[in-house]
Amino acid sequence: MNEEIFKKTLEQLDTTMEPPIKEPNRQYYFIKKLIDLIDKKSKEKGRPLTYCVVTFGCQMNAKDSEKLAGILKTVGYKESKSEKADFVIYNTCTVRENANTKVYGRLGYLGNLKSKDPGMMIAVCGCMMQEKHVVEKINTSYRFVDIMFGTHNIYMLAELLYMRLTNPSKKPLTVIYDEADKIVEDLPSEFKYSFKAGVNIMYGCNNFCSYCIVPYVRGRERSRKACDIIREVEELASKGIVEIMLLGQNVNSYGNDLDDKITFAKLLREVSKVEGIRRIRFMTPHPKDLSDELIEEIAVNDKVCKHVHLPLQSGSSDILQKMNRRYTKEAYLELVRKIKERIPNVSITTDIIVGFPGETEEDFNETIDVVKKAGYTSAYTFQYSVRNGTPAAQMPNHISEDVISERFNRLLDTIHTSTDEVIKKLTGLTLPVLCEEYNDEKATITGRLDNSLLVHFEGGRELLGQIINVRLDEQKGFYFLGHAEL
Ligand code: 5AD
Ligand code: SF4
Repeated sequence: MNEEIFKKTLEQLDTTMEPPIKEPNRQYYFIKKLIDLIDKKSKEKGRPLTYCVVTFGCQMNAKDSEKLAGILKTVGYKESKSEKADFVIYNTCTVRENANTKVYGRLGYLGNLKSKDPGMMIAVCGCMMQEKHVVEKINTSYRFVDIMFGTHNIYMLAELLYMRLTNPSKKPLTVIYDEADKIVEDLPSEFKYSFKAGVNIMYGCNNFCSYCIVPYVRGRERSRKACDIIREVEELASKGIVEIMLLGQNVNSYGNDLDDKITFAKLLREVSKVEGIRRIRFMTPHPKDLSDELIEEIAVNDKVCKHVHLPLQSGSSDILQKMNRRYTKEAYLELVRKIKERIPNVSITTDIIVGFPGETEEDFNETIDVVKKAGYTSAYTFQYSVRNGTPAAQMPNHISEDVISERFNRLLDTIHTSTDEVIKKLTGLTLPVLCEEYNDEKATITGRLDNSLLVHFEGGRELLGQIINVRLDEQKGFYFLGHAEL
């Protein structure tokens, strides 16, 4: 968002008139009204109002939370690190049942806080809100919630907050669209880091993997226009951001729904032309349609990190078919081979689900086999979780929890052994790292390698945001100890 244009537009908006229909002007109108309202409330309290946005789930949610925080800061709230704040938002995840359970537990705690401070405002938003049974449960069991809004309504926060503050009611204000009506650009956003940022390139997913609830709660694929993405990256670069993470549920289908046909590989090339951007990452490509063009772009483009997150989910072709993944074990391994051949130092990471309905011991062993062959740098492992409304929930032969957890532990052992072998080979090398965190107590820096692994080394706070060479002296499981070679 261009701040100057934003400020000018706010100045020109007449808030004594009816709100505009068109976005983003409608939200600008409510932002302007909120600036006055929050200022008044802060004066009454004799201190600035505070907010706390708590994120559950993936990078998409983290990005949405930055947008929510951006709007709240713009209207005058100050960030609070704890949930003892004037306005708390839970941005929820529903990919697995334990994500839901966590949110309910934390909501109970928020209810206690609110009973001591009745002026507190509580909003719940994100993926869980797209499920009718969740909304019903909050309406009956968590009546202290003030606002509920869905994944397609994030951009409306200013409007919803204004409505609630000016029309208090005992029932939560609820706005949940089933499908996205539009992509709203140019709203304020916050950044967790001053040197790296995520950028949405598309929203939603059309793949309907049979276990996954994401297509139901995040809607159909919608790509942002390349010019909007580039403009955002340029603005980020002008603020000192050096690393960009391009975000989408399946980045390979980027552009399919746009009038100007553009592939993800071409988008990567365009983004890499932005001056000041030194590293580009992306999440997540689907193995079924990862093109040669994309492999080539990763190989030749110096700014693109040599890291491909390639979710396997299962190593059994039978299970993959039941999962509707649209590739086989052999096709997956061939893809891994091709990527490694073209990008010699590439790091490959993955996601695996254990205990999909009907998974036999033989099926599970196929997964173990792929882990041994693929040479992953790291792997995220999940126990299958039933999601109501997905085809897998209706499939026969659900696996017992005991079997799932026994297989899960076996998988973890195999992963540790094989990632250890891959990581070990990096010991002794000197590689560029982005300095991301400063640890006060030990006066050390945590840096991230191109392949996403971490290294700790002695260094001062002034290094934050810089890309420097670090020698990886010693491997400690999933990370390294090293020293800077300045
Ligand atoms: N159960 C377990 N894991 C799941 N994932 C998605 N849906 C489920 C589910 N129902 C995992 C997949 C995906 C990751 C983000 O979450 O591995 O890649
Ligand atoms: Fe879910 Fe599959 Fe879409 Fe990933 S690609 S979000 S696993 S449906």
